[in-house]
Amino acid sequence: MLNFDAFDLKLDTDFIGRNFIYCDEIDSTNNYLMHTKIKNDQDGTVVFAERQLNGKGRKDRKWYSSKDLNLTFSILLKQGINDKNINIINLGTAVSIAMALENLYQLKINLKWPNDVLINDKKAAGILVESSSSGNKIDKLVIGVGLNVNQTSFQGTFNIPPTSVKLETGTEIDRERLLAEILNIFEEMLNRIEINPEDVLNDWRNRCRMIGERIYVTDGDLEISGIFDDIDEQGFIILKTDDKKRKKIHAGDVTLR
Ligand code: BTN
Repeated sequence: MLNFDAFDLKLDTDFIGRNFIYCDEIDSTNNYLMHTKIKNDQDGTVVFAERQLNGKGRKDRKWYSSKDLNLTFSILLKQGINDKNINIINLGTAVSIAMALENLYQLKINLKWPNDVLINDKKAAGILVESSSSGNKIDKLVIGVGLNVNQTSFQGTFNIPPTSVKLETGTEIDRERLLAEILNIFEEMLNRIEINPEDVLNDWRNRCRMIGERIYVTDGDLEISGIFDDIDEQGFIILKTDDKKRKKIHAGDVTLR
């Protein structure tokens, strides 16, 4: 069970995680924030679950995570969401996790577009961002994070082999400290996006080894290949295709092969 007092002592935010909803078991923390009417749903609310019965990944995949060992949580953002920033927040969340892991455990983190967090080419964390709008205004953004922390065995088949922070460091990880560090950096990152989004995108670029390489992007039945030239000002891929065109990629799975 997460020690709330130990977590709270390390939390140094103004609003992220100040309303903290702890669940032993839940369908999905993203579903909870997207679809449940909660009385206190202030900006920055964090819903944390020890176990999800229906943890969701990108592209309708499942997210499996063993009970009590990992960090599975979602952050609610409600105020001043500029839809141009949504994908930057997505990449910025991966950057926040990377920085927390670098600061606390001196790990070398690699980020894979759009938002996988890799250690030694294995996936330690994934992010699922969902939103709802009223009219043409985004009124709710839910950022779901699944980070493998103290889990050491994984069942199933995976696109990218999984790992955990414990497997990569060889030590039992203090989940409370890690969660607080991620949320502290995440709040700072939101402020940085307001002031200078390019700065956050550079932090992402610096941790992505695929830029400059030939990549294959699959989205459903479609596959396209080209050189990963850069990300644009909203964090979408600029792909240089073989007919020398520059194509924007907004969604899909990226591989090197
Ligand atoms: C992915 O890599 O495909 C994204 C995985 C996101 C998993 C997290 S766990 C907390 C939150 N609730 C969910 O149902 N999914 C996200």
